[in-house]
Amino acid sequence: MAGLIELFPPGSAVAADGTLTVAGCRADELAAEFGTPVLVVAEAALRDRAREYRTELAARRPDSRVVFASKAFPCTAVQRVMVEEGLGLDVAGGGEIRTALKAGVDPALIVLHGNAKSVDELTLAVRHGIGLVVVDGPDDVDRLEELVPPGGNQDVLVRVIPGVTADVHAHVMTGHEGAKFGLAPPAAAELIARIERSDRITVRGLHVHVGSQILDTEPFARSVAPIAALGAFEVYDLGGGLGARYSYADRPPAVAEYLDALIGAAREHLPRDAQVIIEPGRSMVASAAVTLYRVTTVKRGAHTFVAVDGGMGDNLEVALFAQRFEAGIANRLGPTERVERAVVVGRHCESGDVLVDGVDLAAPAVGDLLVVPATGAYCFTMANNYNGTRRIPVVFARDGAARLVVRRETWEELSARDVE
Ligand SMILES: Cc1ncc(COP(=O)(O)O)c(C=O)c1O
Repeated sequence: MAGLIELFPPGSAVAADGTLTVAGCRADELAAEFGTPVLVVAEAALRDRAREYRTELAARRPDSRVVFASKAFPCTAVQRVMVEEGLGLDVAGGGEIRTALKAGVDPALIVLHGNAKSVDELTLAVRHGIGLVVVDGPDDVDRLEELVPPGGNQDVLVRVIPGVTADVHAHVMTGHEGAKFGLAPPAAAELIARIERSDRITVRGLHVHVGSQILDTEPFARSVAPIAALGAFEVYDLGGGLGARYSYADRPPAVAEYLDALIGAAREHLPRDAQVIIEPGRSMVASAAVTLYRVTTVKRGAHTFVAVDGGMGDNLEVALFAQRFEAGIANRLGPTERVERAVVVGRHCESGDVLVDGVDLAAPAVGDLLVVPATGAYCFTMANNYNGTRRIPVVFARDGAARLVVRRETWEELSARDVE
């Protein structure tokens, strides 16, 4: 378990009795107060990362903006932190527009995405004065032309498929030829020409997004030239996608390294005075959080199965794209020789409900607290009610104090939508 501490949010430590502390809060006390499973966010780590992104981007490209990809952790408290740190918000759909507005973002700093935006979502965007709508294809333009009132205007970006692949799971690749998002350059050029004839939609620029959990800077740099070939615009949104560190083997580029490559390519290919937007999600939030679980059963046989009181109800990343996580016994993180190789599984009725397939745990036993680090991205947002589980709460930890920012779902809420 040496090295596990590096995967926890900065500011985490191991107390003298071997118990994990996150932002000064003991794991056992968090579990006692808020129950398990619980998603614990180190607030300072979240803020530091947002500032790092902002200052590193501004240092390389003064006319630039960071918008947080809300989908990675769309709860009001997280979105509000981003707004307080001076970031805009990228939203995908009407639900995220609503939570973003609740978090207090200036609508002009919202970028709306979606490959299947509904009339209702676009109506909401136009009504609230959302800054940029990223049009994914001609249907978005048809709808906006209907919705924007005469004399009105909606600024848009056109999403372009750069034809770039990255060494990631196919399920999180988005910029390859044949992707469902955006348009290939010739179709994008046609759509741009059409919008340029519109009296109520203005093309401000282009958008590109290669994929997610990319652990190499090169695909980002390669995504710029294909969009530059479409002409000169005022704004280029170069997407998100930088990978996070989930396991010992992951070596994601630092934000500075990633931006050196991306902004280097922007300098080479894009107009000097164009504004550059980036949309980090995963790399902004993954490492700022951990999930605490209670060990409910330990079954020893051909494998040692350590089962916890959560699983794919609060972490779909493993099932969706085989993400490797690590784990530890949060109340026994000190040096020990009693280590056992285990498969950490959830409580759900799928053999695929595995949190970590093979990890060394310190003498796991029923009643222990198990911690999985780097669960800040795409876990909360994909939480579900499978097997009647209640969706997970979120707790912010800061300077030894913890506060609940999203409560656990109640039993009553499980059937609250049933009308019969
Ligand atoms: C358009 C767009 N921008 C940004 C992101 C954020 O990507 P990531 O969380 O990998 O940084 C996504 C994620 O899928 C996306 O679709």
